[in-house]
Amino acid sequence: MQIKKITCIGAGYVGGPTMSVIAQKNPNVEVTVVDLNEARIAAWNDADLSKLPVYEPGLDAVVGEARGRNLFFSTDVDKAIDEADMIFISVNTPTKTYGKGKGQAADLKYIELCARQIAAVAKSDKIVVEKSTLPVRTAEALKSILDNTGNGVNFHILSNPEFLAEGTAVTDLHNPDRVLIGGEDAEAIEALVQVYEAWVPRERILTTNLWSSELSKLVANAFLAQRVSSINSISELCEVTGANVDEVSRAIGHDSRIGAKFLKASVGFGGSCFQKDILNLVYIARSYNLTAVANYWEQVIILNDHQKVRFAENIIKTLYNTVNGKNIAFLGWAFKKDTNDTRESAAIYVADHLLDEEANVIVYDPKVPAEQIYRDLVYLGTRSPEENRRLVKVVNDPYEALAGAHAAAVLTEWDEFKGYDWAKIKETMKRPSFVFDGRKLLNRAQLEELGFVYYAIGE
Ligand code: UDX
Ligand code: UDX
Ligand code: ADP
Repeated sequence: MQIKKITCIGAGYVGGPTMSVIAQKNPNVEVTVVDLNEARIAAWNDADLSKLPVYEPGLDAVVGEARGRNLFFSTDVDKAIDEADMIFISVNTPTKTYGKGKGQAADLKYIELCARQIAAVAKSDKIVVEKSTLPVRTAEALKSILDNTGNGVNFHILSNPEFLAEGTAVTDLHNPDRVLIGGEDAEAIEALVQVYEAWVPRERILTTNLWSSELSKLVANAFLAQRVSSINSISELCEVTGANVDEVSRAIGHDSRIGAKFLKASVGFGGSCFQKDILNLVYIARSYNLTAVANYWEQVIILNDHQKVRFAENIIKTLYNTVNGKNIAFLGWAFKKDTNDTRESAAIYVADHLLDEEANVIVYDPKVPAEQIYRDLVYLGTRSPEENRRLVKVVNDPYEALAGAHAAAVLTEWDEFKGYDWAKIKETMKRPSFVFDGRKLLNRAQLEELGFVYYAIGE
């Protein structure tokens, strides 16, 4: 079966870039990305490619090439479902904020709404592809809804988890380590294999059963997060023993059984996936009474929370146990460099801790707008929106953020921070001038030479 029309429900960080690349590489397949959010669709259609709702290096060129040719963004969900041979579901699956599994299980209400809508609209056979990260056996629920509420047409369900990392989405999509497709129907699997074969070598397209594919996505993220928590646990040990965590990373990373990647100590991992997926894994394990398994993975989150708190407490302790009324300049708010995404960013939690101590936080991030920063703080619900605005100021100029600051804290590893005129900054900061580097980004020798008191994770 040759796919001619693809629809993707959800035009977010996953659906948008993934479908753009599928369309770019398959000029004969018409790809339509739909979303309920009108502003988001309007931004995807903006003639000015710098206004796309997702910032990713290289994405503007891909969208510029395919949009209007065989890539379309629309809010007409029903029409796009009706016309497609293959429908990707790429809606958000946040952690539940209510009821059973609150704070742990994935909230599947958006997925279920999609399934019901597909069932109601479809008048011909469809292949339905899970792209969102989901708990194992969601496909079963999807199938049950589709088969029982549909118009008697056939649905084949595939799981095709996305492994792109934000900030490198386009290169990850162009050159994936692997593409994973899980399913029960050989013909449906082959149809999706063909879409990817347009640019991915066949040997990198792995096929499995549905449950293995769903579980592999959770496990991949859990393993990656576990590496970050493992090295972060060692960073604390390094600080008290005089070892240097970067040297330890390098030494162990040379072991080919361990490998060099994902061993960078930091203020803590963030992003929409790691915490959510581990919580999911923990929830599933508990639901089968696998207590030892659940406890094992839960430690990854506990250690990550500890790392964020520890970073904030070190700032407070170093500033003579009081930050009340002191200006702390935050360099970076995004959860990693080269993205405007702030979901679960360590910066949010570090700020929250300092705000509890009545510090003034002045934030500069090259890509995150002020409104997003206030939204992130409101979402925590620790204090009133007015209180957040009283204590937190967001500026567009890093030198303005740092002028008069008692301390600078590096929360995101944006490259531009390294190139600042730190001599000039030193002149404008309060003395002693502290720098707390949560990303081990800046040059200790250079800063100490200039008279900064420099603290970096794991040294
Ligand atoms: C280990 C380290 O590999 C080595 O670098 C160090 O110098 C000494 O400790 P060793 O204990 O001899 O070496 O064997 P290793 O191959 O690491 O296996 C250790 C145990 O892990 C074995 O019981 C092995 O069966 C088990 N193992 C290893 C697994 O169960 N699964 C694996 O994937 C790998
Ligand atoms: C992750 C997975 O990498 C990707 O395969 C999956 O599809 C989605 O989740 P993402 O969250 O976008 O991608 O970014 P990633 O590069 O994995 O970083 C996650 C967090 O870990 C960031 O906050 C990053 O700063 C942190 N991190 C990463 C470290 O602190 N140290 C490291 O060595 C690597
Ligand atoms: P992700 O990182 O998984 O891509 P995002 O939150 O960035 O998550 O994107 C998910 C998108 O899915 C949002 O833009 C949201 O508006 C959209 N969405 C959620 N439910 C539906 C639905 N039933 N129909 C269409 N779009 C939906």
